[in-house]
Amino acid sequence: MAGRVDALYFFLLAISVFFSLLIAGLIVFYAIRYHRHDPDAVGTVFHGGMILEVTWSVIPFLITMVIFVWGASVFFAMSRPPDETLNIYVVGKQWMWKFQHLDGQREINELHVPVGRPVKLIMTSEDVIHDVSVPAFRVKADVIPGRYSHLWFEATKAGEYHLFCAEYCGTRHSGMVGRVVVMEPDDYQAWLSGGVQEGSLASSGGKLFQDLACNTCHRPDAQGRGPVLQNLYGKQVSLLSGETVVVDEAYIRESILMPRNKVTAGFQPIMPTFQGLVSEEGLLELIEYVKSLKTDSQVQAVRPNTGGPAANENTPAQTPPSRN
Ligand code: CUA
Repeated sequence: MAGRVDALYFFLLAISVFFSLLIAGLIVFYAIRYHRHDPDAVGTVFHGGMILEVTWSVIPFLITMVIFVWGASVFFAMSRPPDETLNIYVVGKQWMWKFQHLDGQREINELHVPVGRPVKLIMTSEDVIHDVSVPAFRVKADVIPGRYSHLWFEATKAGEYHLFCAEYCGTRHSGMVGRVVVMEPDDYQAWLSGGVQEGSLASSGGKLFQDLACNTCHRPDAQGRGPVLQNLYGKQVSLLSGETVVVDEAYIRESILMPRNKVTAGFQPIMPTFQGLVSEEGLLELIEYVKSLKTDSQVQAVRPNTGGPAANENTPAQTPPSRN
């Protein structure tokens, strides 16, 4: 995005410089050209000037419309990640950045990404509002406790880039910095395969799922007291309240922490809250586990390039199993 953002920025700068010089220049020019020669001289009163007034209304209008359309197109491009992205989770915390890769790698204040591949950050905060900013990529987005925000970029050149927190978040806000390491695809693969013993995010989520005994109610055979989670991610479900909701990261998170807010139709509101029992990282693992539950491949074969939520947005609504 950097090129597009810069082009717009320099266009705005050029317009500002042009009009500043024009106005300042005309002030000086007119001050000299029409200065008073005689102490008793009085200026001529001047009425009307339709052409002039239309001109100075229409030209600025056209210029602002250009800025608006151009700015909107850059904004949309920035807010809509491509369908196929490499998803990385980010948890902000006073005062550090924690990154979790789908394959299980964890990093603090360092983010390794491959060159030439769209990367989507799915971000939340453990405490206060932070803000991820990578100036070289011209991207910046708030990281907010209690919800997931997104940001995407595609690095075009290998190297190291500054990563900042761009929201004042307490005493050591200025120390909440890090770096983005952009690597050639081969180096990135080598980095990925080095030093991970923990297993993928989804498999850690699977363990947590059992530790918390979620599996006693959410059974794959539709005989449990909770909805079947297999193939659920990205689907639309009907709620007890009659509304429908798309199963995304935010909904899974809410269902774990506030299970009675949006109960699936056909089920009793009996699930206890897990607020305080699961960390933000744990929630991300559980979410990734639910995303990985697909009947066609029960093994948690989560590859980094399995698409984002957009990949199966258009799948038809799933009717949850009805139980009495
Ligand atoms: Cu986190 Cu400023």
